[in-house]
Amino acid sequence: MASHNLAAVLALALLCLFAVPSLGALQVGFYRGKCNSTDVEATIKSIVAGRFARDRSIVPALLRLHFHDCFVRGCDASILLDGSGTEKTAPPNLSVRGYDLIDQAKAALEAKCPGVVSCSDIIAVATRDAVVLGGGSQYMYAVQTGRRDGNISVALDALRNLPADSLTATQAVAAFRAKGLSATDTVLLLGGHTVGITHCSVILNRLYNYNGSGKPDPTMDPNLVSVLKARCPQRSTVDNSVVLDQATPNNVDNSYYKQIMAKKGILRVDQNIALETVTNGTVKALATGALNFPTLFGNAMVKMGAIQVLTGTQGQIRKYCRVVKK
Ligand code: HEM
Ligand SMILES: *[C@@H]1O[C@H](CO)[C@@H](O)[C@H](O)[C@H]1NC(C)=O
Ligand SMILES: *[C@@H]1O[C@H](CO)[C@@H](O)[C@H](O)[C@H]1NC(C)=O
Ligand SMILES: *[C@@H]1O[C@H](CO)[C@@H](O)[C@H](O)[C@H]1NC(C)=O
Ligand SMILES: *[C@@H]1O[C@H](CO)[C@@H](O)[C@H](O)[C@H]1NC(C)=O
Ligand SMILES: *[C@@H]1O[C@H](CO)[C@@H](O)[C@H](O)[C@H]1NC(C)=O
Repeated sequence: MASHNLAAVLALALLCLFAVPSLGALQVGFYRGKCNSTDVEATIKSIVAGRFARDRSIVPALLRLHFHDCFVRGCDASILLDGSGTEKTAPPNLSVRGYDLIDQAKAALEAKCPGVVSCSDIIAVATRDAVVLGGGSQYMYAVQTGRRDGNISVALDALRNLPADSLTATQAVAAFRAKGLSATDTVLLLGGHTVGITHCSVILNRLYNYNGSGKPDPTMDPNLVSVLKARCPQRSTVDNSVVLDQATPNNVDNSYYKQIMAKKGILRVDQNIALETVTNGTVKALATGALNFPTLFGNAMVKMGAIQVLTGTQGQIRKYCRVVKK
């Protein structure tokens, strides 16, 4: 490379360095040097790793927590707030988990540098770490930080903003578009269903009485229908769990896309994105590897993590993630 080219590249790089941390924008490594000698991201990572060693289901728990946080009032940790009538209490919350891990990380960081690290950033960083633990180093992505916490949480917002399991692909894409995400992002982010579970109550209609037909959903593989019927008896007092990725339920990988292409989607929305023209091309490319899921999933997570964030002097840094600071 000619030396003047190198100089130009260096100048551009410097420009970027100074341009990126502008007030009020998310950035990679926001907490570097802000917590005395404590490495904020390393602190969160070690807590996630400790939990993962005992309980791999922390991966789906955090993924879903982050998604729900970002889709309701933006990624502002409003989902963590306790109290009657908060997002936490709204029915689509069905079993959102991971709150205690966020509390643990927050306590560890408050002990090192009080009032510095937001709960919303802890969710974002912990989720990234969990994804890497569940999928391997190729799932590493440069998580952005610099979010601040909101002080409002309303159950009704959760009801209005969280997509229903029965959506068509077109409806799901519209719901994501309303948050500034593309059809491709919709497909990539639904790939979060590569881990974790749903409950029989959510899918009973697909198994026994699809759309009032008295029959199973014809878009589900009949063998899978039998397997799931055994796990989800029609009249049962217990609401069993069903894994969302029947092939590799504990690994973050692209098998979700292979499953839905084989008519083995668990939620109706999962199956629908493999069927409709708006999304089926992307599904196929991710299933075959023509599109690289590990890299693209990380990119989409960064986009999701930037939805309607509070930054700069907006919002607040809570002391306890479950309570607004007065
Ligand atoms: C149209 C969009 C979406 C719909 C309708 C949807 C719906 C659901 C439903 C109904 C469940 C099962 C809840 C239960 O029975 O307990 C679930 C679980 C889950 N969702 Fe989604 N979801 C969507 C998008 C996403 C996104 C974008 C992510 C993350 C990137 C995500 C991650 C998860 C995970 C990891 C679980 C398993 C949770 C666990 O095992 O604890 N979902 N989702
Ligand atoms: C989540 O919603 C259900 C209703 O579907 C409710 O019974 C439950 O208490 C809510 N969870 C929390 C943490 O409030
Ligand atoms: C650094 O540590 C001291 C002593 O623990 C603490 O008072 C101070 O708040 C910390 N600095 C920051 C930036 O948090
Ligand atoms: C569900 O049933 C209604 C009424 O029979 C019908 O109009 C509609 O197309 C069906 N929808 C699906 C997705 O099968
Ligand atoms: C997507 O679905 C449409 C309509 O069913 C079909 O014509 C097309 O071949 C599908 N594309 C892929 C890549 O499967
Ligand atoms: C809550 O947020 C609103 C709007 O951002 C702000 O005006 C208000 O002062 C905040 N209240 C607290 C207690 O932080």
